[in-house]
Amino acid sequence: MFVVTGGSGQLGRAIVEELLRRVEPARIGVSVRAPSKVADVAARGVRVRAADFNEGDSLRAAFEGASQVLLISSNVRSIGGDPVAQHRTAIEAARSAGVRRILYTSHQAASATSAFAPARDHAATEALLAASGLPHTVLRNGYYATTVRMLLGDAVNTGALRLPLDGPVTWTAQADLAEAAAIILTDEGRFDGPVTLTSQRAVDLTEVAEIASELTGRSIRREVVPDEEYLAVLAERGVPATAVKIFQSIFAASRAGEFAPVDPTLEALLGRPPQTVREVLARAFAA
Ligand SMILES: NC(=O)c1ccc[n+]([C@@H]2O[C@H](COP(=O)([O-])OP(=O)(O)OC[C@H]3O[C@@H](n4cnc5c(N)ncnc54)[C@H](OP(=O)(O)O)[C@@H]3O)[C@@H](O)[C@H]2O)c1
Repeated sequence: MFVVTGGSGQLGRAIVEELLRRVEPARIGVSVRAPSKVADVAARGVRVRAADFNEGDSLRAAFEGASQVLLISSNVRSIGGDPVAQHRTAIEAARSAGVRRILYTSHQAASATSAFAPARDHAATEALLAASGLPHTVLRNGYYATTVRMLLGDAVNTGALRLPLDGPVTWTAQADLAEAAAIILTDEGRFDGPVTLTSQRAVDLTEVAEIASELTGRSIRREVVPDEEYLAVLAERGVPATAVKIFQSIFAASRAGEFAPVDPTLEALLGRPPQTVREVLARAFAA
């Protein structure tokens, strides 16, 4: 059985859908904090168990009978929590449940010295996995392309994309990452250790503004603002200080080129080119 944590989240849900296309529902399990959020998935025959990254016993029960667990990384850093401690709890739970292999959603920039705060957490988790001695596969995912629409904000209406200086990013569609995760899960051991999954071209925000202008028929110009100005706007909007720090680190890391390297593995796995920023944005504008 494959058990996916975070089955109620965007990526987890998409992975479960991809698994349902490939294997019987009885071979799929999800662990979520609130099973009511995935009642539709349970109705299709997927095993749903309640578990919290802060409670090892609940995770152990959710992982019962799993040959592989896909650990979707926690986002608790954005509210000041410690995702690495949660991941440690999950890895220990998987070991004591007798899981054969752990897959973990890391980030392409994972490094102890990354300017991107979550990438340092991912590196620490990768180190925990290496020390665990358990067979594991680390999915170093490119930056989610849905973030591009979020960064654009109301620039379509104001005509100005006012953000700090950035660098090129291999914005990668979560749908493609979900499909790749399901392919890798159902072909156990195809990858051992880290595998980097990105779209095929890195795009900066100047090009994002150009693409958005073409797609909407409105003129959007890219304006670089000082980091401090952008961070002050976020704080005024009520974004928690811990999340503001993460946003700052996105720009610092992209300027340093951490999200720029293109890797061919995702395209090879999918057997087609991964979605482009233009395709992802076109869908977002049409929604
Ligand atoms: N590669 C990238 O660019 C990128 C960008 C952003 C985030 N990420 C990472 O990718 C992960 C998945 O992304 P996503 O878009 O699917 O995020 P999402 O929609 O926010 O889903 C997060 C999932 O984590 C679960 N979760 C949160 N706290 C938990 C806890 N204490 N115990 C158990 N489950 C918990 C949530 O369950 P509930 O329904 O119970 O809340 C939810 O299912 C994020 O959590 C983050 O670590 C990566």
